[in-house]
Amino acid sequence: MADKIRILDVAQSNGEEVVIEGWLYNKRSGGKLHFLQVRDGSATIQCVVFNGEVPPAVFDVAGELGQESAIRVRGTVREDARSPLGYEIGVADIEVVHLAESYPITPKEHGTDFLMNNRHLWLRSSRQQAIMKVRSTIIKASRDYFDTNGFLLVDAPIFTPAACEGTSTLFQTDYFDEKAFLTQSGQLYMEAAAMAFGKVYCFGPTFRAEKSKTRRHLTEFWMIEPEVAYLDLQGDMDLAEDFISFIVQRVLETRRPELESLERDLASLEKTLKPFPRISYTEAHEMLKNEGIDHAWGEDFGAEDETILANKFDRPVIVHRYPAACKAFYMKADPEDTTLALCMDVLAPEGYGEIIGGGQREDDLETLRQKIVEHDLDENPFQWYLDLRRYGSVPHAGFGLGIERTVAWLCGLPHVRETIPFPRLLQRLYP
Ligand code: 4AD
Ligand code: MG
Repeated sequence: MADKIRILDVAQSNGEEVVIEGWLYNKRSGGKLHFLQVRDGSATIQCVVFNGEVPPAVFDVAGELGQESAIRVRGTVREDARSPLGYEIGVADIEVVHLAESYPITPKEHGTDFLMNNRHLWLRSSRQQAIMKVRSTIIKASRDYFDTNGFLLVDAPIFTPAACEGTSTLFQTDYFDEKAFLTQSGQLYMEAAAMAFGKVYCFGPTFRAEKSKTRRHLTEFWMIEPEVAYLDLQGDMDLAEDFISFIVQRVLETRRPELESLERDLASLEKTLKPFPRISYTEAHEMLKNEGIDHAWGEDFGAEDETILANKFDRPVIVHRYPAACKAFYMKADPEDTTLALCMDVLAPEGYGEIIGGGQREDDLETLRQKIVEHDLDENPFQWYLDLRRYGSVPHAGFGLGIERTVAWLCGLPHVRETIPFPRLLQRLYP
């Protein structure tokens, strides 16, 4: 009996007869030969069906198979210098598990809308396979980083009574006789957890009713959010740069073939080494003015501004101390200038912009209360949060890294819609 293998492991079976279970990705025929590109999710391999080597019935079946037909192929692994894997399979037999109907996504060009409507099928294409594998590695690397650096994973709730990132992007839902919001960020809960465990992180989906159509906004995206007790802004920036360089190195080590298939410029990613440049918001504002950009001090940076700023550096840049007025209520004021917040954003190079937002949190009860009022928020749903400033309040800081924007940057993609298996956008809830 031939061993069943995954295509990615084919080198271990050189010269042996094996069985692979997969789908027909592409096919080329000529005379006495059919060349089947078979994928099984781990990789794609060429299976050669030669008229003289298989029974006529098998040769005919190979000729009739349509794209994405499910097949079980038995054959012998042999070296093939032209193949990316270094091997091909000389077919002895093909079992048809399912003969696919005429497949809508062909190797020709399709429009984005068509592909997005067929996202459930589009995921099978080689480009999407490469992106999803990089995504998986980014998530694994993120968890490994925190798991091995003394952080405890603490899951944050999805239904919440209060807004973390402002009331304009809340998704509201009925919660029995009450109203609830889908979480915008696990941060407030991580602050509670940091007071319990010292160093914590959460990883999960977050939701924002983003009403603008941009290439970096989803309404549902995944965030990894560390929070640390007794950490200040300086330490938070150190953590962010160490974390990002770790992820990028891991992806470069383990996903080089995928990045190459996406034609990603690797030399640029290889520069993602500590230390990252750090500039204040005011310095960033000056840089924009010097470029002739009409940016008003006090305004947050737009996508264009971030691109211009990030293009000045060859690796991610950390921008710190934004005006408090353009940031969330929970940020601690800079004691040297209380109009500034002790916060930071990490901007990725090559036009990708903000991938991390975070900073030091307000730890004084009365100041925080006042901020809640200033931001027009109702204090009641925040009573539990204020408790953290009543019982053993300490300086603490953290941040959130958006997984999809990180995937877009590392894969070199123009839009976040391809960075998540099933994107949720302003005008997309299907499939
Ligand atoms: O800067 P943000 O809003 O920060 C927070 O939510 C903090 N509470 C996090 C924390 O300190 N624990 O969001 C953090 C990151 C952004 O830098 C971006 O990468 C991503 O989340 N992000 C989005 N990604 C895709 N679509 C959206 N609509 C996003 N909004 C934010
Ligand atoms: Mg932000």
